[in-house]
Amino acid sequence: MTSAENDPRPPVENRNDPRPRVEVENDPRPPVEKPARVGVLISGRGSNLQAIIDAVAAGAIDASIAVVISNRAGAPGLQRARDAGIEALHLDPRDYADRDAYDRALADALRARGVTLVCLAGFMRLVGRPLLDAFPQRILNIHPSLLPAFPGLDAQRQALDHGVRVTGATVHLVTSELDGGPIVLQAAVPVLDGDTVETLSARVLAEEHRIYPDAIRLVLEGGWSIGGRRFVRASS
Ligand code: GRF
Repeated sequence: MTSAENDPRPPVENRNDPRPRVEVENDPRPPVEKPARVGVLISGRGSNLQAIIDAVAAGAIDASIAVVISNRAGAPGLQRARDAGIEALHLDPRDYADRDAYDRALADALRARGVTLVCLAGFMRLVGRPLLDAFPQRILNIHPSLLPAFPGLDAQRQALDHGVRVTGATVHLVTSELDGGPIVLQAAVPVLDGDTVETLSARVLAEEHRIYPDAIRLVLEGGWSIGGRRFVRASS
């Protein structure tokens, strides 16, 4: 008798998980079309955008940044883009009839600039079907927790309120499930007794800046596949 037969629990697949399953794909992805052109979507400060800009400038990511788009006019990240000589665009959701129309406009703007990989970097909107379908498995997001813990807003506040001793940062592929796509990279950050949202966020942010460029490089290199919920590297 195997240990699985001794286990009274149903197999994982049969458990009552309300989340949509990620499509199973076993073919290793070829590298993202070369030359890789990254489009970054932001809503605010843009420190992760800056980390990506710096990694591209340092040659750590074999890509160019084709455009930075913000849904908010005053996003400081737009200025970071301009300072780096990158096209910075404000697309105002209020100019579009609904969420799908806005997402179609984003997809059109990104495609018009030859974007091959989309990076969400503090983009405070749900990504809908038109954008997901335009860039299948080509959209990345960074989240300030060890997903699946603490999805959604105020992840560092959620971590403190819950009392976890370790939190962190996650880069994942974006699917229709909020903060729920296959995980590319994570970094752990200990929660210290005296932490506030500010002190914890600062240490998590330092890890975000480290792992986001690494994850982009991994995805651009190809040789990975999606198995169930997992991002699987051919060499791992
Ligand atoms: C980061 O903490 C990121 O994980 C979250 O939003 C924040 C954006 O910060 N999605 P910045 O705009 O990159 O500085």
